[in-house]
Amino acid sequence: MRQVILDCDPGIDDALAIFTLLAEPDVAVLGMCATVGNVPVDIGYRNLRNLAAFTGRSDVPVFRGAELPLVRGYAFDPLVHGEDGLGGAELPESSAPVQTENAVIATCRMLHEAPGNVTWIATGPLTNVALALRLDPSIREKVDRLVVMGGSTLRGNITPVAEFNVWADAEAWRVAVESGVPLTMVGLNVTHQVACSKEDYAEIRRMPGKVAQAADRMLAYYEEVYRRQGWGEAKLHDVVAVLEAIQPGICGTVPCSVAVETASALTYGQTVVDDRAKIEDANCDVAMAVDAGAVRRSMLSAIASF
Ligand code: BDR
Ligand code: CA
Repeated sequence: MRQVILDCDPGIDDALAIFTLLAEPDVAVLGMCATVGNVPVDIGYRNLRNLAAFTGRSDVPVFRGAELPLVRGYAFDPLVHGEDGLGGAELPESSAPVQTENAVIATCRMLHEAPGNVTWIATGPLTNVALALRLDPSIREKVDRLVVMGGSTLRGNITPVAEFNVWADAEAWRVAVESGVPLTMVGLNVTHQVACSKEDYAEIRRMPGKVAQAADRMLAYYEEVYRRQGWGEAKLHDVVAVLEAIQPGICGTVPCSVAVETASALTYGQTVVDDRAKIEDANCDVAMAVDAGAVRRSMLSAIASF
């Protein structure tokens, strides 16, 4: 059975990705870690605990991670995910025991303790991931793949060239890219092809379960933000990365050389993807194509399964 650790910053599309992950019977989720990103880490940690409990998975330990990016500061912007990070979905408070171990330490421990290799997934900034790789580089040996949502081969979203998760902590991304860990990048060039359609909303609305009702509330908020901002249909970024991790091949990947800009004020957080790189120089499998229908169907059946 595939073993997984998820690092995230919930976040509406993170929450949908968590539903998709926790519904998968053939995956053992060893732990879930919150990092600073879409929301301050205390809010993300609370959301993550509540999402685990809400789906009946309080057995999955949840850890609180980095409060600030590695080098730069943090300013919370509630525009995309709301003040609570979940578009006002108001999940009940989890009564699961609070884990006092920090997410970075817990990740290193869980990787070492796991029998066999682990798929590490990150759907937020890579702050916890970079700290873990710096604290204990030997963890690389236990990771079969680190699948991250972030970056882009084309344009950005938070700036003309930078995607939010990279821009939020580009130094952390650079640590990950240069660490030698087997890395798969699922960037905007593919996630922008995967949007929740009107039919998908209608299907979720018809589902009877409480998870579907919560997904409906989150998506209503998220879709309204996309509409108001003129961004088109609401994109399921993090769901794509989670599915590529647990259903490898749902994206088509190409080995590339990826570098991250950390110095320029103008292009901070840009991922420079060289698909001309020789295979021996490649440091990242970059998603270049995605089966958008398969992603949406998997997410819908996951939500319906609770
Ligand atoms: C990424 O940024 C966040 O807002 C989303 O949760 C996703 O991880 C998309 O750029
Ligand atoms: Ca995210």
